[in-house]
Amino acid sequence: MMTTKSILNNGLVGRSLLTLKDYTEDEINYLINLAAELKEMKKKGIPHRYLDGQNIALLFEKPSTRTRCAFTVACVDLGAHPEYLGKHDVQFGKKESTRDTAIVLGRMFDGIEFRGFSQATVESLAKYSGVPVWNGLTNEFHPTQILADFLTIKEQKGHLKGVKLVYVGDGRNNVANSLLIGAAKLGVNIRICSPKELFPSNEVVAYAEKLSEDSKGEILITDNIDEAVNGVDVIYTDVWVSMGEEDKYKERIDQLLPYQVNSEMLQKTGNENVMFLHCLPSFHDLETEVGLNVYREYGLKEMEVTDEVFQSVNSFVFDQAENRLHTIKAVMAATNHRL
Ligand code: CP
Ligand code: NVA
Repeated sequence: MMTTKSILNNGLVGRSLLTLKDYTEDEINYLINLAAELKEMKKKGIPHRYLDGQNIALLFEKPSTRTRCAFTVACVDLGAHPEYLGKHDVQFGKKESTRDTAIVLGRMFDGIEFRGFSQATVESLAKYSGVPVWNGLTNEFHPTQILADFLTIKEQKGHLKGVKLVYVGDGRNNVANSLLIGAAKLGVNIRICSPKELFPSNEVVAYAEKLSEDSKGEILITDNIDEAVNGVDVIYTDVWVSMGEEDKYKERIDQLLPYQVNSEMLQKTGNENVMFLHCLPSFHDLETEVGLNVYREYGLKEMEVTDEVFQSVNSFVFDQAENRLHTIKAVMAATNHRL
């Protein structure tokens, strides 16, 4: 049982979360366990106002459902006031530099969440604001997502070390980069399966390979689907076109159609209990504007995952979405409480 005392003694107070590179294996496991504890407390109605009276800025350059809602609800549960600052609402970027914005926000707020384009922006906010800054997604990384993914896996499998996870799709996007780093830190056996043009950068792979020497994790980067999915515990995918790359639909469909997660791919794992994960949002039917446009233009009814797999008993995507709340709450409580 995590107690107020162990939250006090975590050594994380005042830290930002810009990428999972900044955190050790023990610290990441600590945050996942704290999230499980906070989830339990919320379900039992036990108050956990570890940020009582604080004000938290939520700065968004890109849209969001899960991350925005998770930070908002987590703030309120922790006793803090969340203030949403959309890119059209504030001077940031148009009339005011990142540095000046950071200093101003740091004078008024106790913590800042940032979602946007450049990793350099979130790093600058941390450098100049003087308060903890949490990365809610940049082009390069999505660290809070991976905490929720790992909590979801741990809930089903009971542990993380040695779990075999394959990420299939755009292997060089923010989610793939963060999964690779998080898995290498925690000793999760990770395989990234994508066409060669979409392999993660040499820099991220080299970093993860170095880490996995200590954590005893295994890393495989391959374009071979049969090899990648064989015997895995978890199949994970993400959209083929990330926010900010909307001109790339044709190119990505051509590259990634063979990598669609479908029932045939699930069968190839040889594991009837294989978990399916997706950070969401997902194009698995024609119930979205973008999905419908892609259907009209390219004749495709489903993209990165079929509706059959998305809706199947193997799919834990909504547990994963809920766990964004508990893990983001753990990050804020651990890094910003004043108990
Ligand atoms: N998974 C995720 O980050 O979702 P949102 O874009 O809705 O925040
Ligand atoms: N790779 C996706 C993740 C969305 C949560 C994107 O950046 O759009």
